Amino acid sequence: MDDWIDYYDSTHTIYASRRHRDLHFEVIARDIIGYINSPDTVVLDYACGEALSAAKVAGACAMLILAEPAPGVRGRLIARFAPNTKIRVRSLDDLRNMQERSIDLVVMNSVVQYMTAEELDAALAVIKRLLKPTGRLVLGDILRPEIGMPTDVYALLRFAAL
Ligand SMILES: C[S@@+](CC[C@H](N)C(=O)[O-])C[C@H]1O[C@@H](n2cnc3c(N)ncnc32)[C@H](O)[C@@H]1O
Repeated sequence: MDDWIDYYDSTHTIYASRRHRDLHFEVIARDIIGYINSPDTVVLDYACGEALSAAKVAGACAMLILAEPAPGVRGRLIARFAPNTKIRVRSLDDLRNMQERSIDLVVMNSVVQYMTAEELDAALAVIKRLLKPTGRLVLGDILRPEIGMPTDVYALLRFAAL
């Protein structure tokens, strides 16, 4: 649904503070690096958001493709990572034209819950085409619909305590 893409393209308040936002992306980068088992790995971060720690991921692999549907976010990614020759920024549509079987690892973190069933099916078809036969898709942070605010608050407090 475009509503969520517009939301993530706006000046939203999903992070409690700058430190929360920075640590969020640091932890995600660390987790993605945990799935990289060779420096030759080509990684696609599908709907990556601001990906503030992407340079760390790029440092651990051969190439990092940051795919993001929100045009404003994508513009910032392009500006932020222009000097990094191991990072490419793409729209989700661009992914359809990429070479098939060219990606070793696809990460989709905290994205599926924003998609319709049809969007998810279409995304999985694109990803299946891009992945090498030995490639892996990692899905993370998928919220169950019944999760409410108290659970969310508790998760935030636990993260703050780390
Ligand atoms: C919570 S952010 C997650 C960003 C990043 N993956 C992370 O873990 O921080 C949700 C992401 O999903 C994207 N998004 C929202 N709706 C979408 C949709 N229908 N299809 C694909 N991506 C979508 C947003 O643009 C945003 O980048």
